[in-house]
Amino acid sequence: FSLKNYNTFGINAKAKKFISVKKLSELKQVLQDNNDYFLLGGGSNMLLTKDIDTTVVHVNLQGIIVNNQKENYVEVTAMAGENWHEFVLWCIDQNFGGIENLSLIPGNVGTCPIQNIGAYGFEVKDTIVSVEVLNTKTLKTETFTNSECEFGYRNSIFKNTAKGQYVITSVTFKLTTKNHLTNTSYGAIQEELKNISTPTIKDISNAIIAIRNSKLPNPKEIGNSGSFFKNPVISTSIFSEIQKKHPEIPSYPVSETTIKIPAGWLIEKAGFKGKRFGKAGVHSKQALVLVNYGNATGKEIYEIAKKIQRKIKSEFEIPLEIEVNVY
Ligand code: EPU
Repeated sequence: FSLKNYNTFGINAKAKKFISVKKLSELKQVLQDNNDYFLLGGGSNMLLTKDIDTTVVHVNLQGIIVNNQKENYVEVTAMAGENWHEFVLWCIDQNFGGIENLSLIPGNVGTCPIQNIGAYGFEVKDTIVSVEVLNTKTLKTETFTNSECEFGYRNSIFKNTAKGQYVITSVTFKLTTKNHLTNTSYGAIQEELKNISTPTIKDISNAIIAIRNSKLPNPKEIGNSGSFFKNPVISTSIFSEIQKKHPEIPSYPVSETTIKIPAGWLIEKAGFKGKRFGKAGVHSKQALVLVNYGNATGKEIYEIAKKIQRKIKSEFEIPLEIEVNVY
């Protein structure tokens, strides 16, 4: 079974068997019947470098429930297989605010907590009430509260100690119904919205869609997985050293002693932006994004990633950490 249409990199890796589940009861049954399986959600944060010699379980659980409607907010539970961007647009249509800055991020609701998706000054952890999971050993449902998820920058317990032990089945969000706490601090958003004095959540979503479309390749046209690396957090002393040579280096303070720098800037400085290596390469408008121009293998893309890591290490003494899950 070809997984080409099930991963946004468009890698033509094969699965021994493929089962798509739409209901929780089906998911339980499949996990009971198969000792060995590979869980697949939206396939938007994954690079397949080989075939999968087992059953791929496509978590396609569907449904959205609005509960706990209070004066200023609602709690909304969305099933893991709901497409993230469609869910964001649905919330905006209901006038539910909070996730509009995360418009147009590829992937599904069920994978958003794993890497704590974030963009344009906002991270999904700030709206998540809880994450409901199926324990793969006991086949019982369990709930992780927000703090139990141990969220961090592009990180959560589901990437660490809880990895492989649970299937995320749904996520519950707390969203505003009035007095939306809009966040337009990001420079490019302000630029997009300069003619609107009090932007609505729809305006913000539209601005973000325009910004993303101008910088990030649409996976339907050019295979990609968004940012391939994390933005490195380095010590202020190493930063000062680099700054001597490159006074223009952008940065965001993290703590007294650490600072985050855009990996895209390092990769561009190292000369990779827009570079093509055979059937794959580095996006021309955002160097943090690796792209598949068609029929590249996962291995070819992984080789480019390693080449970039080596160059950034030798040029800046900075280890670049891969953000995408490599299989
Ligand atoms: N930059 C360059 N050259 C490039 C790309 C970036 O010099 O080719 C520099 C520029 O100075 C630019 C700065 O880096 O101002 C920041 O770039 P950008 O606003 O595109 O954001 P980013 O830090 O590269 C992060 C997230 C993105 C998210 C954007 C916007 C990570 C790993 N990535 O990228 O998330 O959309 O901010 O908030 O934190 C993703 O995770 O898949 C993703 C796309």
